[in-house]
Amino acid sequence: MAAYEYETHEYDVVVVGAGGAGLRATLGMAEQGLRTACITKVFPTRSHTVAAQGGIAASLGNMGPDHWQWHMYDTVKGSDWLGDTDAMEYLAREAPKAVYELEHYGVPFSRTEKGRIYQRPFGGHTTEFGEGPPVQRTCAAADRTGHAILHTLYGQSLKQKAEFFIEYFAIDLIMSEDGQCQGVVAWKLDDGTIHVFAAKMVVLATGGYGRAYFSATSAHTCTGDGGGMVARAGLPLQDMEFVQFHPTGIYGAGCLITEGARGEGGYLTNSEGERFMERYAPTYKDLASRDVVSRCMTIEIREGRGVGPNKDHIHLNLSHLPPEVLAERLPGISESAKIFAGVDVTREPIPVLPTVHYNMGGIPTNYWGEVLNPTADNPDNIAPGLMAVGEAGCASVHGANRLGSNSLIDLVVFGRAAAIRARDVVDPNTAVPSPNGASIDAALSRFDGLRHARGNLTTAELRLEMQKTMQADAAVFRTDRTLAEGCEKMAAVAGKMDDIKVTDRSLIWNSDLMETLELTNLMPNALATVVAAEARKESRGAHAHEDYPDRDDTNWRKHSLAWVEGPTVRLAYRPVKLEPLTTLDEGGIDPKKIAPKARVY
Ligand code: FUM
Repeated sequence: MAAYEYETHEYDVVVVGAGGAGLRATLGMAEQGLRTACITKVFPTRSHTVAAQGGIAASLGNMGPDHWQWHMYDTVKGSDWLGDTDAMEYLAREAPKAVYELEHYGVPFSRTEKGRIYQRPFGGHTTEFGEGPPVQRTCAAADRTGHAILHTLYGQSLKQKAEFFIEYFAIDLIMSEDGQCQGVVAWKLDDGTIHVFAAKMVVLATGGYGRAYFSATSAHTCTGDGGGMVARAGLPLQDMEFVQFHPTGIYGAGCLITEGARGEGGYLTNSEGERFMERYAPTYKDLASRDVVSRCMTIEIREGRGVGPNKDHIHLNLSHLPPEVLAERLPGISESAKIFAGVDVTREPIPVLPTVHYNMGGIPTNYWGEVLNPTADNPDNIAPGLMAVGEAGCASVHGANRLGSNSLIDLVVFGRAAAIRARDVVDPNTAVPSPNGASIDAALSRFDGLRHARGNLTTAELRLEMQKTMQADAAVFRTDRTLAEGCEKMAAVAGKMDDIKVTDRSLIWNSDLMETLELTNLMPNALATVVAAEARKESRGAHAHEDYPDRDDTNWRKHSLAWVEGPTVRLAYRPVKLEPLTTLDEGGIDPKKIAPKARVY
C-alpha cells in the first residue's frame, strides 16, 4: 500500500453529513459549547434536504383543531404498527417545539392571513385518531421547505462557530478494539489530502441510499455512506426491507412532485379519466398513505388502465386549481413539471409514476440517536461513541412506512435530540482519546486498494447492474420468486466488487474513486434490503408481499437486523418497543387508541 500521511483534528463531536439532521445536530452541539465539526461531501446547502418540497409535520393547529396525540396515532398507523412507540411519541410531542425553534432561527415559512405558519394537508394525516377529516398539519415554505430549512440551519451553525469541512469524503469509522467509535478517516476531495477526525462522539447524518435503485427521487449523492461504514464496522442495519415509493415521481425523470400538490387539491386519474383513488380509499382518497397510493397506481397500470402510449404511468391533475394557488403554493413543482415533463400545469396533467423516495430502514438507534449494537441478551445495547440521525438512522419512528412530511420533522426532532443527549454523554473537559492506529490503517488500506483496483468492471457498469436488480426484484410489489431471484442476483453483483476497475489513480477530484467508494456503501445497503425482504413472510407498510398479502403481527411485528459482510448477510430480529414514554395519567396517549387494527384509509 502507498504510504498516506494524514492530518489529525480533535473535536468533542464530529457530525458526518450536512443535510437537515446533520445541521440540526451540529447547531445543537455547538450551541451548548461542544467543539463541533461537520464534515460533508457536498456543500451544506446542496445536501439532499434541499430537495424536500411539501413541508414539515407538527400539530400546531394553525388551520383548525389538531393535537400531538392525533399526530402520534397517524404515525403509528402509517408505520403499520412497526414503529417504536417511545420514538413515535417523542416525535409527535416535540414536533411543535422543534418547528417554532426553526421559525425563531429564521425559516421563512409561508403565512396565513393572520401571520401564522401556513399548514397544508398531507397523506395519512388526520383528526380524531383517524375518524375525522384530513388535517392541515404540514408546515410549508411554499414547495421549497427543505431549501428554506437548510439555508437557515447552515447560517445558524456558522453563527455558533461550528466548523465545516466541506467536500471531505468520509472513508470509514475509526473503531477501538472494544467497539468504541473514536472518529472518522476522511479524504479531502479538492486537494487529495487525508484527514483523521478524532472525536468523543461521531454523529452519522449521511442520508438514505435511494441510489441503490434505478429510478429514485434521491440525489445522486444519496449513497448510504453511513450504512456502509456501519456495516464495515460490524454493526447491523435495521428494517432495510422497507423502501418507500413516492406516488408522484415525474415519469421518466424521477424528479419529485410534492404530495403537497394533492394536499392543495390535485388528484390522480387513469386512462379512463377516473379518479381511481376513490375506489381504493373512499375516505381519504388521494390523501391516503403513500404506500397505499403507490400500490393503487401500480395496480391500475398492471390492469391496463395506465396512461400514455405504453399505458405505463398515471396522470396528476392540477389544472383545475386557481393559478394563484399554483403560483404561491406550488411554484417549484410547476417549474419542475415544465422542465422535466414539458407540461404546463395550468393546462395539462403531469405524467407520474411511483418512484423510490425514502428508506425507512437504516442504522438502529434509540430515540436519542444513540446507535444500537443489539446482543442476544440486550436488544438495546448501545454502541459507544456513535449516533445516527435522519434518514441514515432508524429510531424507529417510521416503522414500515413513513408519512409525508414526517421526514423533515424527524430530521430536526432527532438532530436536536442527539444534541440534548450529548449534553449528558460528552464531557467537554476531558481529552479526546487517541484513535486506534490499526483501524486507521485498515481504512487507508481499503481506500488504497480501491484506488489501484485493476479489475474488468467499471464502477458505472456494476452500479447499473445493482440498480436494475433492485428496481426489478425489490419493487412496490414483491413475491417469493422475485425476492429469491433478487437475493441470488445481488449476491452475484456484490461478489463482482473484487473485479472492479478504477482508471484514475490521482487523489484530486477523482470522481471515479469517489463513486467507487460510494458503490462500496450502496452495496451493503442493497444487499440487506433484498435479503431482509426475502425473509419477511408478510405484507406490512411498504413491504407488499403478494404471496403473504396480510400483516402478521403474531410472527412479524419485529424489527429485522442485518449484518453484512462482503456478499453475505446474516439476519436476526429485535422486538418492537410497545411502551409509550408517558402514561395516560401523565397526559400520554391512551394505549387502546394505538392498538393494532386493520389499516384502512
Ligand atoms: O411530497 C413531498 O413533498 C415529500 C415530502 C416527504 O417525503 O416528506
